[in-house]
Amino acid sequence: MRTIIEPFRIKSVEPLRHTTPAARQGYLEAAGYNLFLIEARHILIDLLTDSGTSAMSTEQWAAVMRGDESYAGSESFFRLKKVADALTGFRHMVPTHQGRAAERILFTVMCKPGHVVPSNTHFDTTRVIAAEGAAKIPLVMLTVTNNSGGGQPVSMANIEAVKAVCAPHGIPLYLDACRFAENAWFIRQREPGYADWTPKQIAQKMFRLADGCTFSAKKDAFANIGGLLCTNDDRVFLEQTNLLILTEGFPTYGGLAGRDLDAIAVGLEEVLDADYLHYRIESTGYLGRHIADHGVPIVEPPGGHAIYIDAARMLPHIPAAQFPGQALAVELYRHAGIRSVEIGSLMFGEAARHELLRLAIPRRVYTQSHIDYVVEAILEVNQHKQSIRGMEIVEAPPFLRHFSARMRQL
Ligand SMILES: Cc1ncc(COP(=O)(O)O)c(C=O)c1O
Repeated sequence: MRTIIEPFRIKSVEPLRHTTPAARQGYLEAAGYNLFLIEARHILIDLLTDSGTSAMSTEQWAAVMRGDESYAGSESFFRLKKVADALTGFRHMVPTHQGRAAERILFTVMCKPGHVVPSNTHFDTTRVIAAEGAAKIPLVMLTVTNNSGGGQPVSMANIEAVKAVCAPHGIPLYLDACRFAENAWFIRQREPGYADWTPKQIAQKMFRLADGCTFSAKKDAFANIGGLLCTNDDRVFLEQTNLLILTEGFPTYGGLAGRDLDAIAVGLEEVLDADYLHYRIESTGYLGRHIADHGVPIVEPPGGHAIYIDAARMLPHIPAAQFPGQALAVELYRHAGIRSVEIGSLMFGEAARHELLRLAIPRRVYTQSHIDYVVEAILEVNQHKQSIRGMEIVEAPPFLRHFSARMRQL
């Protein structure tokens, strides 16, 4: 059969609320044209992020009921550890309240002022090691899939090549493994030699090439909160654990409830289901293909968790200084109630390399007809794109301005 169906049926539903374009114009004005400042109940389809927005399965909800809320040594922790150990093979694992907590602890323990942490694109990595000298590089980090690189995967050959560069210098390789399962599926589809492997076998190989990982369970573990920090290094683990106790909590709960640990444990296994991954990657691609084939420029090929519209190419009449990505985000919301996020000059200021609009797809949340609605809305916006106006910032904090800046339309 050619039709890709959602590999689940729906047991519990949440209503979506329609609003009128006039009402949305009012919400935009009240929010200073910042979609982060609009109340979620005024959004029809929310493609702001794929993080923490997944629908949990019946098995995950059942696991939530089994959560053991003991402060120390809870059964939930050991259930999670068993699943994580079998998947990653790392010697040590601690939970954290989300991915960035794992990153903060890892970098606090491993990095000193003046250190450099090379990340994705191994030729660059090679160059940095050569230029900076291995002494300044406490670790190398590979993000799978690459969120800032359009949701594109990292090949197994690439992971192996990075490892081959790091190992002789004794530099540990860590994965930012948020979307490890989507990455594994891309490897299976695209890289010679993996077509007969299960997603789990591929993921296991990816993890075993690394010395540790940070992981946001809010992505490929279908959890609404949570993270993991794993390492093979006994000394690093000891220091991490001390810091974890100070800032997150005892190492068997790491800032999470026991029920969260159980939800993650189940999610880590569910995400490696081939039917799920097939549907996931195909449905993201479906959105990308349907808008790209009708002339909307996107980052090609479509990524795993999101489609990135190239707003600079779509709206050439709006210069970067007038935030074409944000102008498009605003128009898509006003036109159809769809929330997306700018990844460009508003987010990165002068360091922005592209003017993109990201449409991130929450896992197992929206159906084919929702995605068809998104396609229709984007194509309608594309038809009147000449009328879209640029934006100007009225008020902004000194950093991370995209979260709270207030703007107006020019
Ligand atoms: C690649 C990547 N790493 C790390 C994080 C941080 O994870 P968390 O939101 O759980 O802190 C994100 C979140 O979006 C991400 O996309």
